[in-house]
Amino acid sequence: MPEKNLLGIEPLGAEDLNRYLDQADNFLGVLERPIPIVPALRGKTIITLFFEPSTRTQISFSIAAKRLSADVVNFSRATSSVVKGETLLDTAKNIEAMKIDGVIIRHSVPGAAKILADHLDAFVINAGDGGHEHPTQALLDLMTIRQHFGRIKGLKVLIVGDIAHSRVARSNIFGLKTLGAEVGICGPPTLIPREIEKLGVQVFCSLDEVIKEFDVIMALRIQLERQKSGLFPSIREYRNFYGLTRERIKKIKPHGVIMHPGPTNRGIEIDPEVADGNKSLILRQVKNGVALRMAVLFIHAGGKIE
Ligand code: CP
Repeated sequence: MPEKNLLGIEPLGAEDLNRYLDQADNFLGVLERPIPIVPALRGKTIITLFFEPSTRTQISFSIAAKRLSADVVNFSRATSSVVKGETLLDTAKNIEAMKIDGVIIRHSVPGAAKILADHLDAFVINAGDGGHEHPTQALLDLMTIRQHFGRIKGLKVLIVGDIAHSRVARSNIFGLKTLGAEVGICGPPTLIPREIEKLGVQVFCSLDEVIKEFDVIMALRIQLERQKSGLFPSIREYRNFYGLTRERIKKIKPHGVIMHPGPTNRGIEIDPEVADGNKSLILRQVKNGVALRMAVLFIHAGGKIE
């Protein structure tokens, strides 16, 4: 049995990860049906509690819940009483008092999902907490890699960009390492966390020198707000050294693929021709996100297939 909550990938073993991935593969079949709905979570009520903007994660969790016949209610900070000063915990406890089964939370503070998990009876799924973890993004990335290559063990995956501030990078590093991939990270030295090698990854500063060695190149979104911090080179310089440009991706292996969690900054970390090209798995990642989030909800809400 999994834990009640899904707060991160770090504590999970290979068996846990494969359980999510196998269940998600099963739900891909449901999504191909003319009526892509199963009654597995009928009677359950799930809240998406998003304190930060989201397109992919919030919508795909909502669609996933509906495909499982759950009732889903979307909360957004801007139209809530948080703007009148209500705290995170008060907000969550008041919503729980309305009798709900699960909460999907995105928040800018690392550990916000854990705070709710410590205080609520409802199950809690972390949909991104600051720079800490984004477990369902990593799971859908693992699903997409396994689907494309038929395996994860032994593949070489390079994560490129602002590793220091990326919850996607952290969750992917944990998941990929647990399932036996070799993981490299590459970016400007100011955006590589100190002692990251302790997570079992290799660190590279020159993308041009190493890009040809990897099966998967995963670009991260450049968080443009970091430019003001002094940690970040100019946009032009970043693109010159780390952008997935049309010219640069000519160097990747013939079977190599490009991934990106979205949203993309086209023309900065990835060129439009690359994002839309035949090596890109970006929309496959988004499609898989619905099946993967169905699996997460099914497992944590105690779903049953009748
Ligand atoms: N990848 C991701 O988390 O996208 P959203 O911010 O749109 O949810």
